[in-house]
Amino acid sequence: MSLKNINPTKTNSWDKLESHFKKIKDLEMKSLFQKDHSRKEKLTLNFDDFSIDYSKNRITDETLKYLLELANESELKDAIDKYFNGDIINVTENRAVLHTALRNQDSNTIIVGGSDIMPEINQTLLKIENFTNEVVDGKFKGYSNKAFTDIVNIGIGGSDLGPRMVVESLKYYKNHLNTHFVSNIDGDHVSEILKTLNPETTLFVIVSKTFTTQETLTNAETIKKWFLSPEFDTSEKDIASNFVAVSTNIEKVKSFGIAEDNIFTMWNWVGGRYSLWSAVGLTISLSIGYKNFKSFLKGAFDMDEHFKYTSFDKNIPVVLALISIWYNNFFNTESEVVIPYSQYLEKLAPFLQQLSMESNGKSVDRNGKKVSYQTGNIIWGNTGSNVQHAFMQLVHQGTKLIPVDFIGFEESLYGNMDHHQKLMANFYAQSEALFSGKTEEEVHLNMKFQGDANKINHLLPFKVFEGNKPSNTFLIKKLTPKNLGALIAMYEHKTFVQGVVWNIYSFDQFGVELGKELANQFLTK
Ligand code: F6P
Repeated sequence: MSLKNINPTKTNSWDKLESHFKKIKDLEMKSLFQKDHSRKEKLTLNFDDFSIDYSKNRITDETLKYLLELANESELKDAIDKYFNGDIINVTENRAVLHTALRNQDSNTIIVGGSDIMPEINQTLLKIENFTNEVVDGKFKGYSNKAFTDIVNIGIGGSDLGPRMVVESLKYYKNHLNTHFVSNIDGDHVSEILKTLNPETTLFVIVSKTFTTQETLTNAETIKKWFLSPEFDTSEKDIASNFVAVSTNIEKVKSFGIAEDNIFTMWNWVGGRYSLWSAVGLTISLSIGYKNFKSFLKGAFDMDEHFKYTSFDKNIPVVLALISIWYNNFFNTESEVVIPYSQYLEKLAPFLQQLSMESNGKSVDRNGKKVSYQTGNIIWGNTGSNVQHAFMQLVHQGTKLIPVDFIGFEESLYGNMDHHQKLMANFYAQSEALFSGKTEEEVHLNMKFQGDANKINHLLPFKVFEGNKPSNTFLIKKLTPKNLGALIAMYEHKTFVQGVVWNIYSFDQFGVELGKELANQFLTK
């Protein structure tokens, strides 16, 4: 059965939120903390190694009450059950949505089209495990019988952003294999990568769910041509040793020349942007080892369990999604910024952009009618503290209201305490500065104290910070494969909840097609 079709603006809770918004839109968060000294504790959610403080938001108990009512009126519980049970909730593509099955650690069955998909998933996981071990141990060798030193992931969109982000984020856990990513159809991209590689010791992983994507096939063909160039003394049969593929389109992969044994299957119930848990994550497993890959899946599974079984008021993805809807649909904020205080997470924002914007960038509801309200937010971001010397000026003093997700880790991986203390001081300082701002009086006093009294008249207005800017603070014990898995699953489910409430289909992406068609027309001109 499909998701219910409920226009959020026609619900009672939406009406309540609208009139409530008029009353509290200018409310100062500071006053909420003054009135309730336990606000921070009350509005903090704990889950395994995560502590999520959402107290610095422009919300009251009443706001949360109505938002939770909105979740109930949107029949979110029913939607979550359908999502995990494999109902055809991707209606426009007539598919179930089961990336959660890929990390399922229960012995339960998950039925799609009348049969249990768990045996197939487990078989593929076993294949990933065996292959990873053989490559890492140097038993699976290249065409000239040398062990691999380099892995090249060839893919784009979900077949690139997820693996790339995770490999980069978990670099600390990597083995001796060096990983590279070719995605862009820009030929300079592939040329730059190839010039550093030795074909004898490089394993190419072509990742394409459809195996029809122009960028990926063009890059794969270019690489194949390079690999077969006379200087390397290679022939077509050597492709079986140095190329593997991940795809649903077995016939097309075979016709590229890849040996059947080297094909890792995936399924059409896994969306591209949700596919890193499948064999699309092969490069992740190769880079950090299968044990770490399993632990990454386990983290996501634990978040799935939390999402499935926790009441909405304590449910992290639900609360985050509802707060985001509150800003997007009532405060009319257009974007959200995600700022991890870890250089390892530099690729998190581009990954979340595809996850959220390709899923919820829709303007037609589940009735096929144009929506009369805002849907998907613009997601952007980069790492702290770098961003403080770049775009944070606009978040602090610009004209736009931009809710922030700050993500930080209690422990650093190499244990450099001096750096970590400074990093975390900045992490806390940013959310505090956004929250508290700096009043005219404070600026005045400050300038006087610093001996700048003569400049007060002309500088004062420029030094004032309005404050009252919302943020969530995610404090995670340590950047581990498990915690990263949970973090990604958390954002996946947040995206899902938003799509349910906005009454849109989050799992298709027809909006990317027109550009592809037109590019082909330009090519043939
Ligand atoms: O063009 C968008 C898209 O379909 C994404 O959804 C997907 O992740 C990407 O292209 C790559 O697709 P494929 O894995 O089929 O090559």
